[in-house]
Amino acid sequence: MTTSSSEQGVSLGMPELPAPAYPDDVRARLERDAREIIARYPDSRSALLPLLHLVQSEEGHVTRTGMRFCADMLHLTTAEVTAVATFYTMYRRRPSGDYQVGVCTNTLCAVMGGDAIFEALQEHLGVGNGETTDDGKVTLEHIECNAACDYAPVVMVNWEFFDNQTVQSAKRMVDDLRAGAPVSPTRGAPLCTFKETARILAGFPDEREGAAEAGGSAGPASLVGLKLAKGETAPARVVHPRDGGPHEEPQDRAVHEPSPAEHLSSHDAPQDTSASDPAHPAGPTAEEGE
Ligand code: FES
Repeated sequence: MTTSSSEQGVSLGMPELPAPAYPDDVRARLERDAREIIARYPDSRSALLPLLHLVQSEEGHVTRTGMRFCADMLHLTTAEVTAVATFYTMYRRRPSGDYQVGVCTNTLCAVMGGDAIFEALQEHLGVGNGETTDDGKVTLEHIECNAACDYAPVVMVNWEFFDNQTVQSAKRMVDDLRAGAPVSPTRGAPLCTFKETARILAGFPDEREGAAEAGGSAGPASLVGLKLAKGETAPARVVHPRDGGPHEEPQDRAVHEPSPAEHLSSHDAPQDTSASDPAHPAGPTAEEGE
């Protein structure tokens, strides 16, 4: 005789409905926000993704109550909402920390040190993939390519980039997050909590001072292909400023033989240039001779 997954106690990640209701005041506030979002779209169901961010900003993850709320507001079935919420990894399905620390372990980041960083952080924090530290501050997970391979290995905290990480800089960064010390991403806006990030992703203004101006521009390593496409001469290779000091002059390059520790293809030599690393405050990589 076969048994169903529920009889076996196996969770398929599907919500058990009906869901508990939001308190009246929370529901009224969310309905106001939801109506504002829905009004931006010609077809209300197009508002589902931002609405899922909205309910995530309320509870820190997408709960059964949140999915029920989205279905009510958009006249969808809970099955339709569930299908979307479980498809996209930006929606969390269980309580998590204030800071989601995602270590890229896709191919390029992995060989440049991402695997080592993820392994070290698991040990350092005492948590596994998708687990949260006891203080509720950090949720660790390995993530797939963040389209920032030119700054590998990359770590993202609440979707902000921390480029060119090392085991040491990543450990220091999570320690600072847990201690409440200021932590700045390599590029883009300052960090905020996961709930605050979710509200911004829902489409509400980013009220943080300087956040809009911070932007997130492409660095030199990202622009090499563009230069080539425009017929410009690309640098021989891209190097990272290892000590924040003056960069090599072009005439020096001809005689400089990189050591194994400087060689960009070396698995053993992730570049120590993160803005979160006080010993290497220069941030993004720079081209030779810049
Ligand atoms: S492989 Fe890590 S950002 Fe692309």
